[in-house]
Amino acid sequence: MKKKLKVLVLFDGISPTTVDQDFTKELKTKDWKTEADVMAALGSVGHTAEHLAIYDDVDLVRQKLETFAPDILFNLVEQFRNNPGFDQNIVSFFEMQGLAFTGCGSTGLTLCKHKGISKKILHYHGIHVPHFVVIPRGQRIARPKQLKFPILVKPVKEEASYGISQASFVDTDEPFRERVNFIHEKYNSDAIAEEYIDGRELYVSLIGNIRLTVLPIRELVFREVPPNEPKIAVRRGPRSAARHGYRGNVQTHLSSAYHRRLRAHRPAAGARQQGLFHRGEPKSNSRQR
Ligand SMILES: Nc1ncnc2c1ncn2[C@@H]1O[C@H](COP(=O)(O)OP(=O)(O)OP(=O)(O)O)[C@@H](O)[C@H]1O
Ligand SMILES: [Mg+2]
Repeated sequence: MKKKLKVLVLFDGISPTTVDQDFTKELKTKDWKTEADVMAALGSVGHTAEHLAIYDDVDLVRQKLETFAPDILFNLVEQFRNNPGFDQNIVSFFEMQGLAFTGCGSTGLTLCKHKGISKKILHYHGIHVPHFVVIPRGQRIARPKQLKFPILVKPVKEEASYGISQASFVDTDEPFRERVNFIHEKYNSDAIAEEYIDGRELYVSLIGNIRLTVLPIRELVFREVPPNEPKIAVRRGPRSAARHGYRGNVQTHLSSAYHRRLRAHRPAAGARQQGLFHRGEPKSNSRQR
């Protein structure tokens, strides 16, 4: 029988929290479904799970470690003081403390968060990525002629579709300039412009450190999008309104035949050793033509 563990599940707090704060009420709501599912799953396989939400004080982790002494942290923290840019710093803190934790390491989070850097690494390992250009703030906004329309314009470092809407899809120069300018000004972020790949959207989760397990591939099905419109995963609402999930789309399991075909296209072995796919789910998606 597998060893039963003491697991500390870490949540995102959306306002200051305390070490013994009870989230039972929140866990019953739709917005906390992921957290509730993790707690329930850990309990159902016999582990002892307690939770702690972090908002702006990592010392709470130290305090909780003194009273609960977990074997491992189950890390669901994606931001610090409502800023998702700090997810890698939280993980760096766990690494410095020598704590065992689930999910991506700090190097993987840092590399994958930058949509330009991650594509350069994938390309180096022979994985196809869309042609793209990064347009930093303060630089003249011009489309390089080799970048063909239609194009998707995104913040270079956001995640989970923040800053992405139907207006991100542009097919002429003026909307291109407007959207890049919008990302620079409204998101205070450099922009990345990628050629739009018309295809199916697949999500592949990996678990492991040296030897990786590939979990069943899921597909984001764009049931509500009319056939002539671009299929883009956009958010349900603003960052504060939806903790997880995308608007009106359904994820399903793929047929096992399609699954086998995809598994034949594994990333080059070298890519795994670079830490890009290190510990848990890689922070990049795939579009399959
Ligand atoms: N080049 C592209 N071609 C077609 N669709 C795209 C392209 N880039 C992004 N999309 C669509 O926009 C969605 C969001 O883009 P992307 O995954 O790059 O950003 P993100 O989700 O904010 O970042 P991350 O995946 O790192 O969390 C994708 O899930 C996909 O539906
Ligand atoms: Mg994405």
